[in-house]
Amino acid sequence: MITLFDPIRFGNIAADNRIVMAPLTRDRAGPGQVPTPLMATYYEQRASAGLIVSEATQISPEGQGYLDTPGIYSAEQMAGWRHVTDAVHAKGGKIVLQLWHVGRISHVSLQPNGQPPVSSTARRANGKTFTAKGFEDVSEPRALRLDELPRIVAEYRQAARNAIDAGFDGVEVHAANGYLLEQFLRDSINDRRDIYGGPKENRARLPLEVMNAVVAEIGAGRTGLRLSPVTPVNDAKQDSDAQGLLNYFVEQLAPLKLAFIHAIEGATGGPRDVAPFDYAALRSRFKTGNEHGAWIVNNGYTRAMAIDAVASGAADMVAFGKSFISNPDLVSRLRLDAPLAALNSDALYGGGALGYTDYPPLDPALIVKARGERSLTQRL
Ligand SMILES: Cc1cc2nc3c(=O)[nH]c(=O)nc-3n(C[C@H](O)[C@H](O)[C@H](O)COP(=O)(O)O)c2cc1C
Repeated sequence: MITLFDPIRFGNIAADNRIVMAPLTRDRAGPGQVPTPLMATYYEQRASAGLIVSEATQISPEGQGYLDTPGIYSAEQMAGWRHVTDAVHAKGGKIVLQLWHVGRISHVSLQPNGQPPVSSTARRANGKTFTAKGFEDVSEPRALRLDELPRIVAEYRQAARNAIDAGFDGVEVHAANGYLLEQFLRDSINDRRDIYGGPKENRARLPLEVMNAVVAEIGAGRTGLRLSPVTPVNDAKQDSDAQGLLNYFVEQLAPLKLAFIHAIEGATGGPRDVAPFDYAALRSRFKTGNEHGAWIVNNGYTRAMAIDAVASGAADMVAFGKSFISNPDLVSRLRLDAPLAALNSDALYGGGALGYTDYPPLDPALIVKARGERSLTQRL
């Protein structure tokens, strides 16, 4: 039987175990949106994950929506990321970069020349973002013109190239959590009247163009995708036919044979049963003709749920978010069934080492205790 702790190969990536560090925005980039040495330490501490998905990283200045998030569009940013990828690889880990364009979840103070953010629509989201002044309402967006969309696709493609050149093992295209690509996918947001709006075939067009361009640039074996079929975050109201939309999208992706799809089940960071959705139907569409592509699941997974998901074949890998923030050695703790450290939720976004690189690994006394308990159970 396959377990959560077994190695796995998917696409061009060979991972030591099936535990994924979920992408986690921490707002600690330096001037010029450049990754810092402290970020390299943070990721290095977590390199025992089978796979790390980096925090969301903007593909262009326009793709930014929060203060101090890193980019992957300048030489300085690539050099900063190179320290991160080198540090993770030196510890035997694997890391992919999450490619991000926030679309309308932004604020004019974060946009080049104070311009309005761009989206599929000109309607403002009901939500907040984190700016130099703290949490502020997001700004009213401008709907992207038809003739601008090739530029957006080209920016994703260049960002994927930059990620590989900065030493990443691949990329995860962020098509989740109410950001730009989901702003195109969902009919609750996309109100366009051109060939990128209306029926699902049109709404999936931009995300499909992006996936095709990224695969053409760096290869499918290094390309993954994040989806959140029913999440309500960032004012992403439910699509009128989420299942039909996502089934179609994943079917269209099948010929690409992506390295992985990473599905957020339910409301990101919230209830898993926020709306009905058949994730297994997506998984089977993804796996058809692509048995070695990894199906990664996420959201509210406990150790027991994760072990069960992999053992039952429902998932190939399981991603953990919050528990990776407070447990740099989460993999050992899960192996040992050791206690998990609590999260300091005051230090999530912005700041320095506090609540970032200062979570200690498991106390050796607890390791002995956990091992002892385990061997006792095994003997019984
Ligand atoms: C502080 C924080 C930052 C996050 N940043 C991102 C991000 O950059 N990209 C993304 O796709 N999801 C992001 N998420 C969502 C997580 O990847 C994950 O889906 C969520 O925490 C649920 O998993 P968990 O229950 O294991 O924590 C973030 C979540 C948290 C708590």
